[in-house]
Amino acid sequence: MAERNSSASSLVVISRKSFFCLFTFTSLLFIMSWFFVLRSSGRPQFIDHRLLPSSKQFFVTENDNTKTRVLDNSVGNRSILRDNKGEGGGEEEETPEKLVDVKCSAGNKQVLKVFMYDLHPEFHFELLDWKALGESVWPDIRTKIPDYPGGLNLQHSIEYWLTLDLLASELPGSTSAHSAIRVSNSSDADVIFVPFFSSLSYNRFSKVNPHQKKSRNNLLQEKLVKFLTAQPEWKRSGGRDHIVLAHHPNSMLKARMKLWPAMFILSDFGRYPPNIANVEKDVIAPYKHVIRSYLNDKSNFESRPTLLYFQGAIYRKDGGYARQELFYLLKDEKDVHFSFGSVQKGGINSASQGMHSSKFCLNIAGDTPSSNRLFDAIASHCVPVIISDDIELPYEDVLDYSQFCIFVRTSDAIKKNFLINLVRSIGKDEWTRMWKKLQEVENLFEFQYPSKEGDAVQMIWQAIARKVPSIKMKINKSRRYSPFIPHKDGDRGLSSVPTPNNFW
Ligand SMILES: *[C@@H]1O[C@H](CO)[C@@H](O)[C@H](O)[C@H]1NC(C)=O
Ligand SMILES: *[C@@H]1O[C@H](CO)[C@@H](O)[C@H](O)[C@H]1NC(C)=O
Ligand SMILES: *[C@@H]1O[C@H](CO)[C@@H](O)[C@H](O)[C@H]1NC(C)=O
Repeated sequence: MAERNSSASSLVVISRKSFFCLFTFTSLLFIMSWFFVLRSSGRPQFIDHRLLPSSKQFFVTENDNTKTRVLDNSVGNRSILRDNKGEGGGEEEETPEKLVDVKCSAGNKQVLKVFMYDLHPEFHFELLDWKALGESVWPDIRTKIPDYPGGLNLQHSIEYWLTLDLLASELPGSTSAHSAIRVSNSSDADVIFVPFFSSLSYNRFSKVNPHQKKSRNNLLQEKLVKFLTAQPEWKRSGGRDHIVLAHHPNSMLKARMKLWPAMFILSDFGRYPPNIANVEKDVIAPYKHVIRSYLNDKSNFESRPTLLYFQGAIYRKDGGYARQELFYLLKDEKDVHFSFGSVQKGGINSASQGMHSSKFCLNIAGDTPSSNRLFDAIASHCVPVIISDDIELPYEDVLDYSQFCIFVRTSDAIKKNFLINLVRSIGKDEWTRMWKKLQEVENLFEFQYPSKEGDAVQMIWQAIARKVPSIKMKINKSRRYSPFIPHKDGDRGLSSVPTPNNFW
């Protein structure tokens, strides 16, 4: 409240003249941003427009050739504008756009400095059945890397890969792939990393044993909250510069309500209230794909016999009703594979085979907006068709998914014949273009140790690094009001601020 009042009263001080300037400037910015939105939409027109009555894509492509040019003329020197934006190439011909905004990520490469707590091993590698020797908290990764349990556990294993990468950054002569390095003095750090393997803790230890009151997963979370909130690092920033991993949607269910000022690394926001987690504060990380990568993919449009592939649970809670609807719409279509059964039950091989031999792979919201199916599809070079209105995607600030995914609104997808006509309308050329892009981007979703340039581990660190300036601003802002000025809780300042009559 106090903040809002002070900014409102400072507005009053601004003279009308400067307000006019501000207004002109903002309008100019607005027009320019439209110009960029329209310009950047020169994507292949692989979709039959008649099929997309209410789609944003339709709107943008439709206007591409008319409105853009009008704006061009009115904005002045567009080549300068374009150069500043780092976009090359002409207007008419199709330029091979860079899929990842390299200027942002690799160009001015700044290494993220990370302080990692030496948490007790019960929070991390002991969950992998590793036993600490003596005083050491961390495994000696030069001799043996503790194994992570396979199967579906792997989907949410980012905690493991990120922690290993930090440990590796300390080894002498470590490779140059590092977007993040571990620092030993938290005063030197950009962010503070909390190495709790929360997804594994949920997957393995959320059962309450008969003689216990609480599950081990819940106990660990309680302990973690107690530990963190007592640390000088936490107190210094109110937790705002802490990185907390909660990739499994059910992990950290207890602790997240206490640790919310921190940056969470999540798979989606499906089970989070927006004040606890949101796109602005947090980072979305990919799932680790569970099916095999398609190495030396020599397939093509004709050699992938299945048009559209979906395998998964069909009846889901919450947002998953669309799966059922789509099942009834698609089950009788020829060359569509739509079937029950989770990948879990020995189906990984058949799912690999299925996705490797399909042109398009469906990703429908389940009980959460995201699933590893998208990343399985990418690894299979099977063009993802995403039907999940609330999905948030990894590194979307530097990656244009529309170049290799098809997004369909749920409300459209469940119209009779809509989806199947849409998919059938995508021809060989457009499909091949997306298939090639998939091979260009697949590495961005690959988790591995040692991590390599541009893989998922590095991309996540870079996504975190891009949030650091806003974290720093939040911390400085939080220091505005000195704790030495007495402040009662009920003290809310002015209850209303008079608005000037001649505001505009
Ligand atoms: C536009 O920019 C180019 C350089 O990119 C410059 O040569 C030209 O004079 C500029 N035109 C105007 C109208 O400013
Ligand atoms: C960490 O860095 C700060 C500031 O540079 C310094 O004052 C402090 O002594 C350092 N702490 C340790 C343990 O080296
Ligand atoms: C606060 O502002 C200073 C500049 O005065 C800046 O160097 C610093 O990074 C900001 N953030 C924090 C957390 O200190």
